[in-house]
Amino acid sequence: MTSTTIPGLEGQAPTDHAEMLAWITEVAELTQPDRVVFADGSEEEWDRLTSVLVDGGTFVKLNESKKPNSFLAQSDPKDVARVESRTFICSEKEEDAGPTNNWRDPSEMRAHMTELFRGSMRGRTMYVVPYCMGPLDAEDPKLGIELTDSSYVVVSMRIMTRMGQAAMDKIGSNGAYVKGLHTVGAPLAEGEEDVAWPCNEEKYITHFPENREIWSFGSGYGGNALLGKKCFALRIASAMAHDEGWMAEHMLILKLTSPEDKAYYIAGAFPSACGKTNLAMIQPTIEGWRAEVVGDDIAWMRFGADGRLYAVNPEFGFFGVAPGTNYSSNPNAMKTLEPGNAIYTNVALTDEGDVWWEGLEGTPDHLIDWLGNEWTPEGDGKAGNAAHPNSRYCVPIDQCPVAAPEFNSPEGVPISAILFGGRRADTVPLVSEAYSWNHGVYIGATLSSGQTAAAEGQVGAVRRDPMAMLPFLGYNVGDYFQHWVDMGARGGDKMPKIFLVNWFRKGDDGRFVWPGFGENSRVLKWIVDRIEGRVEGEETAAGITARAADIDMTGLDTPIEDVEAALAVNPEEWRRELPLITEWLEFCGPKVPAEVHEEFAALKERLG
Ligand code: GTP
Ligand code: MN
Ligand code: MN
Repeated sequence: MTSTTIPGLEGQAPTDHAEMLAWITEVAELTQPDRVVFADGSEEEWDRLTSVLVDGGTFVKLNESKKPNSFLAQSDPKDVARVESRTFICSEKEEDAGPTNNWRDPSEMRAHMTELFRGSMRGRTMYVVPYCMGPLDAEDPKLGIELTDSSYVVVSMRIMTRMGQAAMDKIGSNGAYVKGLHTVGAPLAEGEEDVAWPCNEEKYITHFPENREIWSFGSGYGGNALLGKKCFALRIASAMAHDEGWMAEHMLILKLTSPEDKAYYIAGAFPSACGKTNLAMIQPTIEGWRAEVVGDDIAWMRFGADGRLYAVNPEFGFFGVAPGTNYSSNPNAMKTLEPGNAIYTNVALTDEGDVWWEGLEGTPDHLIDWLGNEWTPEGDGKAGNAAHPNSRYCVPIDQCPVAAPEFNSPEGVPISAILFGGRRADTVPLVSEAYSWNHGVYIGATLSSGQTAAAEGQVGAVRRDPMAMLPFLGYNVGDYFQHWVDMGARGGDKMPKIFLVNWFRKGDDGRFVWPGFGENSRVLKWIVDRIEGRVEGEETAAGITARAADIDMTGLDTPIEDVEAALAVNPEEWRRELPLITEWLEFCGPKVPAEVHEEFAALKERLG
């Protein structure tokens, strides 16, 4: 304990980390909050802050008998998703941010944002939020401090990360940590009444990768404001991983146990709102197979002593897409929510004080929609979605009935397969295996998907999303591809096999030809059979696809023609992609490794 001169702090700071105290003091002097409070992560703190949020109108407390200790927040309608156009990677050199990121000169950005931050916390409390990404007992725990004037952020960080005094103690007197500075950018004048969801028209989600620093201004939404998640665990961590020889990826981690009781760990990179959370919590529909979740959004992977690639989930909670989640599509997500202790954002409120969203069982006769308007199923002229398409639930992982115990293991789990996937109505088959690691890198580098509501932009338009990391890369995309090639060379034949999957293929009649969700276990079984060398595949231009007869269809009434349609590789469709891929690789620039160009050339050759 040290006495300090942090303006607005009552009592003593629970750390004697001199550099940290100087930083907090400097930020408090700049942003001028009324109070400074160190978050300890206790239950008492949760109770106090959730009460403050209820009193201030940000939270509605849900019916205790239906959703215990749970709360609903409805955001400003202009603050509902990540803002990619306002996300910046401010590396010293523009080239290091690469062609896929917005770049500004770091000194200019600092100067500009310093003026935005000046007085930005007036009338509010600034919280000092210590947190750890990944298990606290890791050999080299990755720690952070977020300074924020949003109590919604503090309680959400308590769910999503290992937050509180234990993390502060790990940082100790002189430990390293990632600095995160966040304000909703809505200072209150003397006596001015607050709004339910303060934010600013102007938004900046800024990263200084060389300094491992994050400055976020103007938004309260999860991906922009919970700095441990996308900002640290992906953008900053990807830059750290590149320097230090590991990988920070937008991937789920699934533990799959076969009827022979053998466990396989599978990682999967799908773009936002393309099925990671659903696959991570899959309930297999085939006899004897069990699945457990290690992570649903982010994987940090490094080589273990045995030379295999091990994955850790740095997060502590799920921040999942609500619409479409129900007891048949994702029963394990629903069961995770039953014990309560959850925060919902931008879903609808029922008359019983429960939550509802599109796709949830039993459409109520009357709701308050996410905009706060009366809503009925028939609509009233201005009818729209009751829940925003990117509405989310935030809940601790350990409430999940199928949380794998390995989730808390600092060593992580050895990965046997990496899946890439996206939303493609055509072209991309249900499943195919890469011919080699570098072919897999090519598949990841050119991954494409229809745009979803998880970020601003036109929903549906197909865009390239390399390794599902387009919005989350902290450095040059060409260097990133090179890093993947290099990791493969280091790991050699111990590297996971790479597969491309597509749950979203449609028939000519516009319906999905593959039932998806729990039935995806049938595809996972084929993947395991490939890992074990138990099944032949069909060599196509795209990769090694499954023969329809090798997909276990026991108990499923999907017609075999649909399965064949889902698995088909149509060379005509693949040829149509070629100019788009040429354009994409040109856009990615001169740092794209020769290996990726060679794989593209090989694909063209296979297509004739
Ligand atoms: P982020 O959390 O934003 O990174 O997204 P995510 O990849 O976790 O996506 P999520 O699992 O939440 O899925 C998003 C949407 O895809 C939901 O509306 C799901 O219902 C739908 N979805 C997931 N899996 C399948 C599937 O196998 N088939 C079909 N048709 N839809 C699916
Ligand atoms: Mn995500
Ligand atoms: Mn998710």
